[in-house]
Amino acid sequence: MLQKNRKKPIYEGKAKCLYEGPEPDTLIQHFKDSATAFNNEKKGTISGKGVINNRISEYLMTQLEDIGIPTHFIRGLNMREQLVRHVDIIPVEVVMRNLAAGSMCKRLGIAEGASLYSPIIEFYYKDDSLGDPMITEDHIINFGWMAPEELEIVKNQTYRINDFLSGLFAGARLKLVDFKLEFGRIIFEEEEVVQIVLADEISPDTCRLWDMDTNEKMDKDRFRQDLGGEAEAYQEVARRLGLLAKIKEEGDGESNVEEIK
Ligand code: TMP
Repeated sequence: MLQKNRKKPIYEGKAKCLYEGPEPDTLIQHFKDSATAFNNEKKGTISGKGVINNRISEYLMTQLEDIGIPTHFIRGLNMREQLVRHVDIIPVEVVMRNLAAGSMCKRLGIAEGASLYSPIIEFYYKDDSLGDPMITEDHIINFGWMAPEELEIVKNQTYRINDFLSGLFAGARLKLVDFKLEFGRIIFEEEEVVQIVLADEISPDTCRLWDMDTNEKMDKDRFRQDLGGEAEAYQEVARRLGLLAKIKEEGDGESNVEEIK
């Protein structure tokens, strides 16, 4: 339940808010319907998106935990919220590409949908005021955004996540074209160890998903490119993952179930 008189978010992002959690070292991650693109230049709302992304991200993070990828996810709380571990976010966005799309096509003049010899990993420095510039591994090491051994872990996890999620989405007749991940650190001071965990979200906001047969776009590109039908596309992704029935049947009083048709 969304608490009344809740404190102000400790972080208000474009698609999510973070509140202090009920237990030490936890946060409540709240998914909103607001959408932005092109570093906040385009703003809008995708009706029901927060509810769907909350469930999709919960489902994918849980599946990844099951194959041994540590994540920040603890448990679902309600239609729009999940309890997560408080991590120090590493200021590097990791993008993995299986097919050419988006900024890579623009930057390199490559046709959308072109196949790649092997998956491509890219890094971006997480700083909105700079427009999240693309960086290399040398920047990451030189500026201390990750230690070399942390970067190795992040790269290995990203390749594993790509293999696993590509298969999972293929089972839902969806191609995982590309996606963005964020990682964080949990510091265990007594043992003097640092654990790298997958954080943020995995959803149609942060993945490109194309229908396996028609290549129809089923993700935030519908919003970015003014294609329309974004709410329906997000619902269809949830339906194909077997999550829509559960989403529909779980009213929690806080969100209007009617928004999910
Ligand atoms: P790009 O082609 O625009 O660089 O995006 C690559 C992938 O990363 C795509 O699946 C969308 C996702 N992404 C985000 O989740 N957040 C962002 O801010 C950007 C630019 C991309």
